[in-house]
Amino acid sequence: MNLTNNTILVTGGTGGFGFEFASKLIALGNTVIITGRNAQKLQDVKQKLPAVHTLQSDVSKIEDMITLHEKVIREFPDLNIILNNAGEMRKISLHHQHDLADITREIEINLMGPIRMVQQFLPHLKTKTNAAILNVSSGIALMAFPISPIYSASKAGLRAYTQALRVQLKNTNINVFELIAPGSTTPLNDKFKEEDGFSTSALMAPEKIVDAAIKGMQNDQAEIFPGLAKLMQILSRLAPNFVISQSGKMGASYMYGK
Ligand SMILES: NC(=O)c1ccc[n+]([C@@H]2O[C@H](COP(=O)([O-])OP(=O)(O)OC[C@H]3O[C@@H](n4cnc5c(N)ncnc54)[C@H](OP(=O)(O)O)[C@@H]3O)[C@@H](O)[C@H]2O)c1
Repeated sequence: MNLTNNTILVTGGTGGFGFEFASKLIALGNTVIITGRNAQKLQDVKQKLPAVHTLQSDVSKIEDMITLHEKVIREFPDLNIILNNAGEMRKISLHHQHDLADITREIEINLMGPIRMVQQFLPHLKTKTNAAILNVSSGIALMAFPISPIYSASKAGLRAYTQALRVQLKNTNINVFELIAPGSTTPLNDKFKEEDGFSTSALMAPEKIVDAAIKGMQNDQAEIFPGLAKLMQILSRLAPNFVISQSGKMGASYMYGK
């Protein structure tokens, strides 16, 4: 698809991939609106990227999404692309006590967020001749990462949902893309430390992942697997038990409550 002269809404645009998407898509000549929960972070991005439009909105809150939808449709009626990027990832030992309302947080942000965004914006996207939805899943959608069990469930769910969505929209003007991103040097991963067995050397720069995503969309590539994500796809098919036993070594002392 053509990635110039579009109006694009990016959820979670204040850091990591979202910020890279915003700056690169603006440079390509698109109008870009970003969201995030933190007003200060939105202001900081506006200073760095004066052309960006910012709206404070929490993707896990239905009332925020209704307000976001009203504002965007009113102020940016040309909106034709949605990037469901906002996400959170915690390390969680299931041996610890957890508040029942909080334990599902990644499901609410990473899975229910994109599902509700699509449902809310679908009637509008159908009115456009050239429209797209990109959902940012993860290599972890292909293989569970035991130290982040709720995140793993959210991304596997998002991948399944995106595959079903693509089929349901096949006779429409809306392209459905999935970015199956590998691990990256964004703040999301700050909580994972070398001493726990995590290798930061394997992480890919967010700029490169977003370049691959943009190129993939321009080439109408429905599923985009940058860098190690391609290898993860192959390994998850050929040796799923090996893969999960290896990833289960990362953060072992935290996970097993020792
Ligand atoms: N980094 C990786 O290794 C990696 C790998 C595969 C997939 N991914 C996925 O890529 C996406 C972006 O990750 P990232 O690494 O760029 O993360 P990041 O650097 O932590 O940035 C996350 C962004 O999402 C926003 N956000 C978080 N919760 C939100 C909510 N409830 N409503 C609205 N905005 C929210 C944050 O802003 P506020 O905090 O201000 O809300 C921030 O702008 C996520 O879906 C993540 O799961 C990341």
